[in-house]
Amino acid sequence: MLYSSLKLFNLNQPILIFGRDGQIGKSLQEYFNHLKVPVIFLGRLDCDLSDELAIKKILNHYSPSIIINAAAYTEVDKAESEIQLAFAVNAKAPEVMARYIANVPHGILVHYSTDYVFGDTKKTAYFETDSTGPIEKLSIYGQSKLAGEKAVEEVFNFGQDSRYASAQDNLSRYFILRTSWVYGDGGNFILTMLRLAAEKDQLRVVCDQLGVPTSAKWLAEIGVQIANSKSESGIYHAVPDGKTSWYELAIFIIEVAASVGRRVKVNEKNIFPIPAIDYPLPAKRPYNSSINNSKLKRALSKLEFSRQYPHWQEQVEDYVRHHVIFNIKN
Ligand SMILES: NC(=O)c1ccc[n+]([C@@H]2O[C@H](COP(=O)([O-])OP(=O)(O)OC[C@H]3O[C@@H](n4cnc5c(N)ncnc54)[C@H](OP(=O)(O)O)[C@@H]3O)[C@@H](O)[C@H]2O)c1
Repeated sequence: MLYSSLKLFNLNQPILIFGRDGQIGKSLQEYFNHLKVPVIFLGRLDCDLSDELAIKKILNHYSPSIIINAAAYTEVDKAESEIQLAFAVNAKAPEVMARYIANVPHGILVHYSTDYVFGDTKKTAYFETDSTGPIEKLSIYGQSKLAGEKAVEEVFNFGQDSRYASAQDNLSRYFILRTSWVYGDGGNFILTMLRLAAEKDQLRVVCDQLGVPTSAKWLAEIGVQIANSKSESGIYHAVPDGKTSWYELAIFIIEVAASVGRRVKVNEKNIFPIPAIDYPLPAKRPYNSSINNSKLKRALSKLEFSRQYPHWQEQVEDYVRHHVIFNIKN
């Protein structure tokens, strides 16, 4: 996308991005680098998101008109014992960002969220209109992310300054992009499988949890594109097409890796499916993590840049190929 095509952005005020060093944050850095747009990226040392005052100070200092929040407390199991911290980063911090942006004319908040807000109430893919929870079926991480979504929505629905809320043209907007099974530059399932496939003679992988692997690079692009569109505020499910289980995904990763020259000790015959119950972890995970992307597709189809919507297999294949080839060369 060309710099000039970011025409809906008010570039007189900076774009502020939280979560610089995370998977999506790093992809956003790459994306904006390529666009040559002035952006301020903030990491944990620049602004601790568990500190409400620190966030307010940063917002007042930079006066951004666009905020992309790619930061989150993402340690799903640790969150079970760090409840306060998880809620501070995943619920209070986005609320503070929303309160600020809601009263900036034409302001935009892009906030990433998760499929973990759903607690296995359906066997098919969830729509944005489906009920979340129930709370008792969610992990602490899921609860804290859900509280963040609700806080953002509440601020925009009820907390906008009447001077701006009455002038439709001035209205600021928010986009909550719910996604799942993210992989990029950071610890993730694909890299774990590639490492294990080189070390072990056999693997056991969970086969009864379903979801959609999603590229951080693509999520960065979607975040910018939706912000630079006339799309309505709201929640959007941001995942590619298709769905899979961890087990099928592991086989796919290892097949692609082997096809581009990675030495692996396992193949389909010695990767064994196991139920999630045989791989106990401190935090609950949904069995059904699949979310329906048709709302996002409709929004993107109205944009100039609109192109073929990806399938998860294309993105994973691309990622594995690049990773393996890069590591063979280096
Ligand atoms: N990963 C997934 O599978 C997945 C699935 C669904 C949704 N999501 C959502 O997607 C978004 C991004 O995920 P990701 O995979 O890119 O996450 P990630 O790689 O774990 O990055 C999260 C970032 O948040 C930062 N952070 C955490 N606590 C902070 C604090 N107190 N103050 C400031 N920064 C803090 C971390 O800083 P440090 O680098 O200093 O640790 C890290 O850079 C999140 O909203 C997440 O909930 C992720």
